[in-house]
Amino acid sequence: MKICIYPGSFDPITYGHIDIINRASQIADKLIVAVLDNREKKSLFTVDEKLDMIRDAVKDYDNVEIESFEGLLVDYAKKKNAKIVIRGLRAVTDFEYELQMAQINRELYHEIDTMFLLTNLKYSYLSSSAVKQVASYNGDVSKFVTPYVADMLKKKYNKYVV
Ligand code: COA
Repeated sequence: MKICIYPGSFDPITYGHIDIINRASQIADKLIVAVLDNREKKSLFTVDEKLDMIRDAVKDYDNVEIESFEGLLVDYAKKKNAKIVIRGLRAVTDFEYELQMAQINRELYHEIDTMFLLTNLKYSYLSSSAVKQVASYNGDVSKFVTPYVADMLKKKYNKYVV
């Protein structure tokens, strides 16, 4: 069975991530969307909130599992018996960082490979930070995230109009 891991911060998940999940789920027998639980990195959402938002977004996919992980990605991959890491590339600027990560991961665990999927052009400008910035000023994020995530963002920024 081909088990792939799509790791990330997902703070929050956007349509760009969902596009990658959609395509990776057609390559993998089982795709694990793995949320990094990193207490040092400041996140808007808790890990449980991130998991909930991803669960809602991918509920129609039979072969997609959602989990959080701590520590090194390669250790988590070994535990899950996964040998392929999926990453999305939005622009050439992503490449240097991604290349370094892929090479370090491979140094740490020779059996792991990283597979890059080109982010749909439609979402190549998107990032979770940009979405959060728009939401924080009460802007419309409906083109970037699911209605559930948009709602969660509103709650976080206390912009509920009753
Ligand atoms: N569409 C839209 N946005 C995308 C995207 C896509 N397809 N792919 C990435 N992004 C955005 C994210 O929204 C995020 O935006 P932000 O910076 O505004 O929050 C940004 O690109 C990068 O996020 P992400 O893909 O979540 O990567 P990351 O750098 O936060 O996390 C891990 C990368 C979790 C894979 C990595 O840190 C890791 O493996 N950590 C574990 C420790 C480890 O093993 N380290 C050794 C390797 S060096």
